[in-house]
Amino acid sequence: MKSYVILISGRGSNMQALLDAQLPGACVAVISNRPEAAGLAWAAARGLPTAVVDHKRYASRESFDAALAEEIERQAGGRADFVFLAGFMRILTAGFVERFAGRLVNIHPSLLPAFPGLHTHETALRTGVRVHGCTVHFVTATLDCGPIIVQAVVPVLPGDTVQELAARVLEQEHLAYPQAARGLLAGRCRLEDGRVLWRDDTTSPAAALRVPAG
Ligand code: GRF
Repeated sequence: MKSYVILISGRGSNMQALLDAQLPGACVAVISNRPEAAGLAWAAARGLPTAVVDHKRYASRESFDAALAEEIERQAGGRADFVFLAGFMRILTAGFVERFAGRLVNIHPSLLPAFPGLHTHETALRTGVRVHGCTVHFVTATLDCGPIIVQAVVPVLPGDTVQELAARVLEQEHLAYPQAARGLLAGRCRLEDGRVLWRDDTTSPAAALRVPAG
């Protein structure tokens, strides 16, 4: 069975969605860069190994990333098949990304390549886009830019507040991330020439795309 580690920084609702989805793989640990991350207690109560690698205790990004990589491998007893970033709010160095190339996955609350970085819902409302959503993607050295695994689309409704739009996207995040993780763990999709190919892409786009009903 494939193994995975989840990295969080905060409440961990995407982590919970992954763990509730009964994925075809074993979560070997949840690791946070913040000792106070609420998701850590949830994971520990669920009986999962948890660990903290506190970024404030490291003088440089490189030394933090080296410690984080070591902790991931220690928890996995060697090589973790996948590392799922679930609200992990640190920019990772090129060296870390290279070490976990093809195994490092993130969820971002926009339809990439639109709106990389922070404040995606505010930007969606400000620019007047009619569709918004989330993207599960492989992590590369360029922020929020790697090969796309799954995207979920939501409408932007007239009068939406940031909170309403964020909640609509988050609901889809909780479906899109497990969908992508399941595909990866089951070997139903793979990276080829910088793009993700799904085995069933030719028959249906549904493996990689969630669209609103109606
Ligand atoms: C999510 O919106 C995720 O897309 C973004 O940060 C948020 C984390 O939320 N990267 P949670 O910690 O998973 O609840």
